[in-house]
Amino acid sequence: SRDIRLAVIPGDGIGTEVVTEALKVLEAVGTKIEATHYDLGAARYHRTGETLPDSVLEELRGYDAILLGAVGDPSVPPGILERDLLLRLRFTFDHYVNLRPVKLFPGVETPLADTRPEDIDMIVIREGTEGLYAGTGGVMRAGTPHEIATQESLNTAHGVERVVRYAFAKAQSRPRKKLTLVHKTNVLTYAGDLWQRTVNRVAEEFPEVTTDYAHIDAASMYFVSQPERFDVVVTDNLFGDIITDLGAAIAGGIGLAASGNINPDRTAPSMFEPVHGSAPDIAGQGKADPTATILSAAMLLDHLGRHAEAAKIEQAVSEDILERLSGWASRTTHEIGDDITARVSS
Ligand code: NAD
Ligand code: IPM
Ligand code: MN
Repeated sequence: SRDIRLAVIPGDGIGTEVVTEALKVLEAVGTKIEATHYDLGAARYHRTGETLPDSVLEELRGYDAILLGAVGDPSVPPGILERDLLLRLRFTFDHYVNLRPVKLFPGVETPLADTRPEDIDMIVIREGTEGLYAGTGGVMRAGTPHEIATQESLNTAHGVERVVRYAFAKAQSRPRKKLTLVHKTNVLTYAGDLWQRTVNRVAEEFPEVTTDYAHIDAASMYFVSQPERFDVVVTDNLFGDIITDLGAAIAGGIGLAASGNINPDRTAPSMFEPVHGSAPDIAGQGKADPTATILSAAMLLDHLGRHAEAAKIEQAVSEDILERLSGWASRTTHEIGDDITARVSS
């Protein structure tokens, strides 16, 4: 098969460190990759004032996929890189499915008592292009004691239906065939009603899938007290953001949590990145776990139909994790990358 044309955006902080390791693993697994690095993030912003020039955005559209480390830096006001770089990519390339597996690998320590790998095996499908991330709203009487800040949640019938339909299809393909809508229909009545009605309607097309509902507050509790309740979770952009950090925590930590920003219609490249951010507190120290990014690279291969290579990486990670039981905390970012690279090469 032909080479994968990959755009790489290492970004800020530990983003560059973890992406280096993921690229090493991709190369070692035998995937022919033509990678082009894009210098976007805090450094570029300070140097030129640019976040994501239009010409770069259009160039990125031409790739098979994008691998991103993380963006965000304490030297840049919050929101600039996050909105104008990361969210702009997700919105422009119509990444309406943000796929975030929450899976406890054998041998990984979870903070939950008496919890086995089979108890935490779900996939969160987070809507990626709408909701409170839409950026609508504004400020009136700014800077006065009477300032009013509104931030609106945008939910369209089209946007909700397409992600809900994807989630049902995903549930249908899994052994348990269970879909849970997570929202806050008891308070967010306009948006919640649209989500619930959409789930009810699409459910009729998937008679084998069991549907369930939980409010976001209760769902957060169940993630900790009864994670086995969940198989496929579908939720809006902000709830999905929050609950997947919680998911990462119960499944062994943010250093293991992978994600894919998927454009299922393949009208633009999908983008793969760890769930975590640029972790300024540990950046440059070789302390970051690159596993989340390596697993995101496996999701990338899977998306491009390279299923055998994806499975090989997952297997290598799973074996590497088992070995962590003895003294894993002492390995550096490079060492973890090297160990997983060695496993996929053999
Ligand atoms: P964070 O995920 O960067 O860090 C949270 C905590 O987890 C920190 O203590 C960090 O050290 C730890 N951590 C994160 N990744 C780790 C890894 N691979 N190995 C070991 N420990 C790890 O979240 P934050 O501190 O809230 O945000 C920092 C910056 O990152 C902000 O600018 C934020 O906007 C940005 N951010 C970007 C993305 C992204 O690019 N997708 C995601 C989340 C946050
Ligand atoms: C994530 C991050 C982003 C989000 C931020 C950095 C915009 O937290 O990928 O989970 O909120 O989606
Ligand atoms: Mn997040």
